Amino acid sequence: MTANIAIDGPAGAGKSTVARRVARELSFIYVDTGAMYRAMALYLIRQKIDAQDTAGIEEACGAADITIVYQDGEQQVMLNGENVTGILRTEEVGNMASVSSANAKVRKKLVALQQKLAREADVVMDGRDIGTEVLPDAKVKIYLTASVHTRALRRYQELKEKGEEVFLEKIENDIQKRDEQDKNRENSPLRQAKDALLVDSSEMTADQVVEEILRIYRERENA
Ligand code: DC
Repeated sequence: MTANIAIDGPAGAGKSTVARRVARELSFIYVDTGAMYRAMALYLIRQKIDAQDTAGIEEACGAADITIVYQDGEQQVMLNGENVTGILRTEEVGNMASVSSANAKVRKKLVALQQKLAREADVVMDGRDIGTEVLPDAKVKIYLTASVHTRALRRYQELKEKGEEVFLEKIENDIQKRDEQDKNRENSPLRQAKDALLVDSSEMTADQVVEEILRIYRERENA
């Protein structure tokens, strides 16, 4: 059986930075499930499907072939054969992903892919429903969070470094809205699994969070 680590939490809590580093330390594979939902969102945007058009989303999602390959240990997301990894982390794609990821048909398709990856290798997987739905038997489950303000600042800096024109207040509002959508949706809402450990990264560096997760993992391994 493979050993899996599940990291869930709201947008901007630092999941991907931390998960990537934990995976590197343990020689596990890092799986960024948000990128899969973003690739689906990009496909829907390109098909000019409205975020509120549930029937349109359900009809279109079947034709989006999303696969994962690894290049130099980094996850690359392929959308119908095109590597779209570099164009997924925009606000437009994120806002569409927040809506389209609530769709049961979209989730069914991507969860199956995620479970397959976790069966084939030891993974550190991050997302919203990894501990609750995707990998209920994960060896370690972490619920990583931070205050809305801290998360907005982090996203603001990330986008600014990429040269996007951004406004902190707008990002804070977007994060709040996305939190509401992720937590209140009917299908697989964001919530802490009963057996997940809560880590609040507001006052922690990424290194400290990584150390904490490695400590928990090693403690479990030796138990
Ligand atoms: O983590 P992120 O911002 O890249 O995620 C993009 C969107 O996908 C976000 O609105 C939540 C959704 N998502 C999800 O519903 N389930 C996951 N396992 C991962 C992401």
